[in-house]
Amino acid sequence: MKILIIGDICGSPGRKAAAHFIPLLQKEHSVDLTIANGENAAGGVGITASVFDELLSYNIDIVTSGNHIWDKKEIFNFIDGESRLIRPANYPPGTPGLGYCFFDKDGIRIAIINLAGRAFMPPIDCPFREIDNILEKVKSQADIIIVDFHAEATSEKMALGWYLDGRVSCIVGTHTHIQTSDERILPNGTAYITDLGMVGPWNSVLGVEKDLIIKKFLTGLPVKFNLADGPTVFSAVLLTVNVDTGKAESITRIFKHLS
Ligand code: FE2
Repeated sequence: MKILIIGDICGSPGRKAAAHFIPLLQKEHSVDLTIANGENAAGGVGITASVFDELLSYNIDIVTSGNHIWDKKEIFNFIDGESRLIRPANYPPGTPGLGYCFFDKDGIRIAIINLAGRAFMPPIDCPFREIDNILEKVKSQADIIIVDFHAEATSEKMALGWYLDGRVSCIVGTHTHIQTSDERILPNGTAYITDLGMVGPWNSVLGVEKDLIIKKFLTGLPVKFNLADGPTVFSAVLLTVNVDTGKAESITRIFKHLS
């Protein structure tokens, strides 16, 4: 089973890069499932119903998210009825939307789980204890389990990677928009990367116009963020999983420029 997992898609520049590269990669690698983080897909923060539909039109099967999922108010109008868009599972009970979902392909069932970190992030319930609860429920129902851990700190991501080694097929980090070069398969068969990186403006600070962020650091004053324009990058990993064992066979980092 080949699974393409794409980093944070940032605004219209990111959507343009996604539209360009996803069909090429799907064809080249005979991809069975495509997952992308879409929490910044609408204007750089949040996601709208029309932008979500646009992501699906690029053959993205499942959209994960993170702390910015609530930034466009219309999310509350459609997240409850949408099983292909998930938000971090460790929000408190009663939060709208789903924290995990399933995708079926050729008789194989894949569980996709979204979690958010707690280090340097808005307060949220414990991701380590929440994943234990979820795995209790899904492990007998899924052949393959994929986790998107939306978190800031490399230490928290690596710790969760070790905590889940042998219990899930793959855990990828998102949120920092900077791709890390530490992709590997952990000793018990779980593929891991600290951060997938961004799909969005390359000459930017995490997608935002660089001069605005420099001004913010120089003055300490709040600034209104605008998305940068110019060349874009596309960041992802291609994962191969053994469907009999649920263990990862390979994880290959993808980083491409679109000028
Ligand atoms: Fe985020």
